[in-house]
Parts: sequence; C-alpha cells; structure tokens
Amino acid sequence: MTEIIFHEETKTFHLYNDKISYLMCVLENGHMGHLYFGKKIHDKADFSYLVEKYGRPMTSYVFENDRTFSLEHIRQEYPVYGSTDYRHPAVEILQENGSRIMDFRYEGYEITEGKPELKGLPATYTESGKEAKTLKIFLKDGLTGCRLELLYTVFDSEAAVARSACLRNEGSENLHLLTAMSLNLDLPDKDYIWMQLSGAWARERHVKKRILEQGITAVDSRRGNSSHEQNPFVALKRPNATEGAGEVIGVSLIYSGNFRIQAEVDTHDVTRVTAGIHPDGFDWKLEPGEEFQTPEAVVVYSEKGLNGMSQTFHRLYGRRLARGFWRDRPRPILINNWEATYFNFTEEKLLKIAEKARECGVELFVLDDGWFGKRNGEHAGLGDWYANRERLPEGIRGLSEKIEAFGMKFGLWFEPEMVNKDSDLYREHPDWILQTPGRNTSHGRYQYVLDFSREEVVDCIYAMMEKILSESRISYIKWDMNRSITECYSATLPPDRQGEVFHRYILGVYDLYDRLTKKFPQVLFESCASGGGRFDPGLLYYAPQGWASDDSDAVERLKIQYGTSMCYPVSSIGSHVSVVPNHQVFRNTPLHTRANVACFGTFGYELDLNRLPEEELEEVKKQIAFMKEYRELLQFGTFYRIKSPFEGNETVWMTVSDDQKTALVGYYRVLNGSNQPYSRARLQGLNPNLLYENIYNGTENYGDELMNYGLITTDGSAGELPAGSASCTDFESRIYILRAKENSR
Ligand code: DGJ
Repeated sequence: MTEIIFHEETKTFHLYNDKISYLMCVLENGHMGHLYFGKKIHDKADFSYLVEKYGRPMTSYVFENDRTFSLEHIRQEYPVYGSTDYRHPAVEILQENGSRIMDFRYEGYEITEGKPELKGLPATYTESGKEAKTLKIFLKDGLTGCRLELLYTVFDSEAAVARSACLRNEGSENLHLLTAMSLNLDLPDKDYIWMQLSGAWARERHVKKRILEQGITAVDSRRGNSSHEQNPFVALKRPNATEGAGEVIGVSLIYSGNFRIQAEVDTHDVTRVTAGIHPDGFDWKLEPGEEFQTPEAVVVYSEKGLNGMSQTFHRLYGRRLARGFWRDRPRPILINNWEATYFNFTEEKLLKIAEKARECGVELFVLDDGWFGKRNGEHAGLGDWYANRERLPEGIRGLSEKIEAFGMKFGLWFEPEMVNKDSDLYREHPDWILQTPGRNTSHGRYQYVLDFSREEVVDCIYAMMEKILSESRISYIKWDMNRSITECYSATLPPDRQGEVFHRYILGVYDLYDRLTKKFPQVLFESCASGGGRFDPGLLYYAPQGWASDDSDAVERLKIQYGTSMCYPVSSIGSHVSVVPNHQVFRNTPLHTRANVACFGTFGYELDLNRLPEEELEEVKKQIAFMKEYRELLQFGTFYRIKSPFEGNETVWMTVSDDQKTALVGYYRVLNGSNQPYSRARLQGLNPNLLYENIYNGTENYGDELMNYGLITTDGSAGELPAGSASCTDFESRIYILRAKENSR
C-alpha cells in the first residue's frame, strides 16, 4: 500500500510503500528540497538534518546576512539556474524583460487516489483507484504569475515513482519555456556506474557503461525520434551491483522525440539527474492562460541488482503503460515478407509465402513495404495509402480476405509520417512537409517528413488509414518511420513558436496513434523506425510491441535483446527468424539458434518458407509448436539476465512462471572452442525447495542447486564429445526446459 504523508510542522512529504521511500520538504526559501529516494525507511516528522547547509568559499547565499543557505549544493526537486545554484536546471523560462530567473515557491498540495491522465501524452496508468496514490505539489512564481505543479505517483506494489511537471501561465505576460524537464533527482553522492543503451542502425541498445565523475554525463537525441543511437533510459548502479544483487536506480522517459537524460556531478559529489525533452532548440511559448504538461519520467529503485530494476520496468510498462486488447495476450506468430521479397512481389507470390507459413502453423501474414501508390522502390509512393492495383488486383481488401480464407490473420505495413516527392499527396500538398523557408530540404531514403504538428495533415493520413482498415480485414499494423527530422520548421506556426515544432510533431504522432487504436481496438500495433529507431516507452502506450532492430542475425540479436530487456518487457521485443546467410551481417547461424533467440520476444519469420529444405521445414513446425506451448511464459514470465553477451562468449537468460513451477533457460555460445573450460549458469528466480526436471538433458535438481551451484552447460566442446551428445558448432544454443516435479517440496 502506498502512503503519502505530509508533516505540517516540518513541511515534509514522505511517499512510501513496502519497497521505497521518497522524501522531500519545503526549504526555507519556499523551494522544494529533495531529501531521500531509496529503500523504504521509517516515517518520522523531521528529516531536516538531510538538508546539509555549510557556508563554503566562493558560494553565493540567498538571504542577506546569512552565510549558510545557498542552493549551490542543496538537493532540490525542480531547481532553477542562477539564484545561487549554478548547475543545469529543471526549468528555465524566458520572460518579456529578458530575465530567466524564476522563484517557484511552495503554495500547497493535493493527494489523490490513483493517477490522472496526462492529456495528449502517453503515461503509466492505474486500473482502479486503489493501485497508486498521486501527490501534486503547487508552487508559484510571484513575479510572473507562473504556476508549477509537480506530480508524483507511487504505485502500491512497485519500487517506482512516476513524475512530471505542469506549468501554467496565470500572469499577464508571455513566457517562453526553454527547459521543462520531467524529472530532477539530486542524489547525495556520485558512486555509481552510469549505464546507457546506445548504438546505431542495426545495432541498437547495446549496454555501455562509464564511471560518474565531476562534470556532465548525458545521453540525448536531437533527431526528432528517440533514435537508434541513444535510448531514453539510463541506469545508475553501485559499482558492486550485479545482475542479481545490489543497488540500482533506473530512469526512463516516456517520450518518443528529442530527449536528454543527464547526470551532473557537482564539486561536492552531489549528482543531479535530469530527464525530459531536450532543451536544445526547445522554446514553448506560454501565453497568459496557457499550460504545458511535460512527458512523464519513471524512476525505479532496486536493491536486487539490474534484474530487480528491469523486472519492475517490465511489470509497470508491460501492464500499466502498454494498453488494450493485446496487452496481456500471447502474441500471434507472424510471417513478414520484407526480407523474403523486398519490393519485388506479386499477389501470387505473397499468397504462396502465406500458404506455406500457414502449413507450418504461422498465424499472421504481414505485408510489408511496397503495396501502395507507385511504390516499386524507395523513390515513390509514400503518402498514397491506397493499394497498387497492378500488384494487388483486388486491393488490400481482396488480399486480406484471401489470407483469412486460409485461416490466417492479415497485417499491413504503413509509414504514416512520410511522403515521397513522387506521390499524389506531395503533388497536391507540397507545403505539408517540414522545411525551412529559403533553405535546402534534406531527404532521408528519398523521403520527406510530413508536418505532423498540423492537424489537417494528421487528419488526412488518418482518413486514408481508417478507410483501408475499415474496408479490409486487418488484424495488425506495422508502423514504420525510416528517417530522422531535418530543417525542422512548420509553415503554419509564427516565428516565436518554431521551437515548439519537434514536440508538436510527436504530439501529432501520438494523436494519430490514439485515434487509430481507439477506432480499431483489436488491431495489434507494432512500432518500428528502420528497426529500433523509436523503441521507447512512449510508443509502448499505443503499440505493445516494437520491431527491435533491422538486424535479425542471431548473434547480433543477443546483444540487442539483452540490452533492450534492461527496460522493456520481452512481450514488447519484436524478433524474427530470418534466412542465412543473414542479410545484415552475412553470417550463417543454425536455424535452431535463430529460433532460440527470437523466441525470447514476439517471434515470427522473415523469409520465404518455400525456399527451405524439407528437414528445415519440419524443424520450423517444431519451433512453432514449441512457441505456441510456451509463449505465454516466454513473453510474460519473470525474465532474468544471467550471462551477458557484452562480457563473454556465452549468453544466458531465462524466464520463470509466476508459480515458479516452470522455467525456460536460453543458453547461447557465439564461438566454439576446443577443450573448453567447464561452464555453468547460476540461475535465478527458482523455488529453492522444488525439484526441477530438466527436459533438455533429463537431469533433476532442486532450485537451490541450480541457483547456487548452477545449471551445468558444459558440452562436447569441453573435450571429447560423449556419444549421443548434441553437436557443438559455432553459434550453438539450446533452451533448457525446467519443470517442477509434483510434490517435490
Ligand atoms: C524498415 C523496417 O525496419 C523494415 O522491417 C522494413 O519494414 C523496411 N523499413 C521497409 O521499408
């Protein structure tokens, strides 16, 4: 149960549940001071000793004739710059007289059950008022009349706090928000390893680490999307924390556009973490009466290592951020034609692919890029969301009906935010793209970005998509986005509102998602951006799964999926088996390894099964049968990372059922070697008292053995191959199925 207590005498707020405490107080200048975030501690009225005030050389002080109170090192909730605090602020507002100094003073608070929606923005939610409590703290800048509302939600059963801020101009002058972060968390020391998820196209979300030191450490995107390069997630782990033990703080921003997450370590080792919309280029005009709501950030505390942190995110994001019909349902096994055909397909070819897939047990056929307008390649067609009748004589409706007649569901690819110059849409509305007057307009993959900050543009795309979805039998949509934004400028906004375009663009994307998911609640949406260029919590609110990467090579995927799992649930990780040699890295991996990696995700195939030899088709049928039997556990069980692909040749991860009676352990070894050392994996999350039968090798072990000594994964690569044991090659893998024996307690 969550409690939010206000100690009037000391003006201290204590938000807590069984796992965490979050403490703050009103400082003597009326600003909000931060006291503590971490493992639950006892409540008491007075924590004022946590505001450590010392006069220091070269410090500026707030009150005349006082050399103790300075904001320079004091931990705060939503700090401003320039009034004795020189660190990067949470909020910066330009006023008509050119000043940026603000003075937000505490006015009051409100505690409510549950959690309010954030208008127009994705956010975590509750299903009943009883799951969480929300505290709103009201502050005001007396000079400008600007009001600030800080929102904190604590969920009953999770070690997580959701935060955001709302600014309302109740004064009479125009204000310009230049910085409005979602979260500011000032930590009392810097003894953390900073972990980020970084990469590039086809190698997204690799885990990178560095030590925090005095100065700034940051990840960000200024591309208009959350990006392949960085992800709006950071973990701060204590140096001794591991996957299974130790203290970790996770910070995640529920947003899909330009963002920055930053840690600033000051001269006295106080660490200021901020997360929110990237302040660079951001300038939101607040006219009198207007308000601005920041996106939401979630901060998680774990004393059970990185796995503890990830599991909190998985539960929260899987069940209280993702929504709708598919949220809790095992995902359909799909076949996607992209790598099978690229743009080179006819209806006949597609039907053959679908038919074979159906024979093997695949449930959903997805038609990727190339079905619309004059889309025969990358140069044309985007924006014309109606079927190319030369390829699909009976349109999408006809094709989808034929697919359904096979007993399969039908899914379709869109890239709603883009347009090619060679399209009817562009010819009709050349002014609908983002472009800066008088400047060159850069393209990406020969396409231009539609100005989704404009309602009429979003309306038009909605109308085209709605028509196809209403007319045809569509169960799934893949929503792609294949370039970042350049020359960002909207034709309809005045000069002093151009700093709003990036954010308004994302609000337009959310609006289109919102309308479509409301109108077609049973359609499964998968987000995509040239693979994983917009794999973020914002889109999880609308699309419960996302195509994790264009790289479908099994070895590359180990790192991508391992990194992705830091924050995102397995049910959200789009993962397919594709052909060899792989199209991205030209590597040959065994079919079973490709499936053993992809099954820790949504699972599907991205190839033409007609081209596989008979024995591989039999293997595919078995893989699909396995996935159908275990997908609920694979996608919704408790996921543990055991051995990291970033640290060695072996990767191990596992999932455990809620009743701890079944577990699946994925073991992967990149390169074979000769005369290899012994190998074992110390499992996690099992019941120590249950005897587990290992279906893979017929052994029986108690949970405590498997978690303390470990599961032996040594195989023939350790020496001479015992007769009958599995072959050992490069890119070897296996899934161990552990099943508790009846009455084994
Ligand atoms: C990029 C996606 O990630 C691919 O899966 C595919 O849909 C292509 N775009 C199509 O253009």
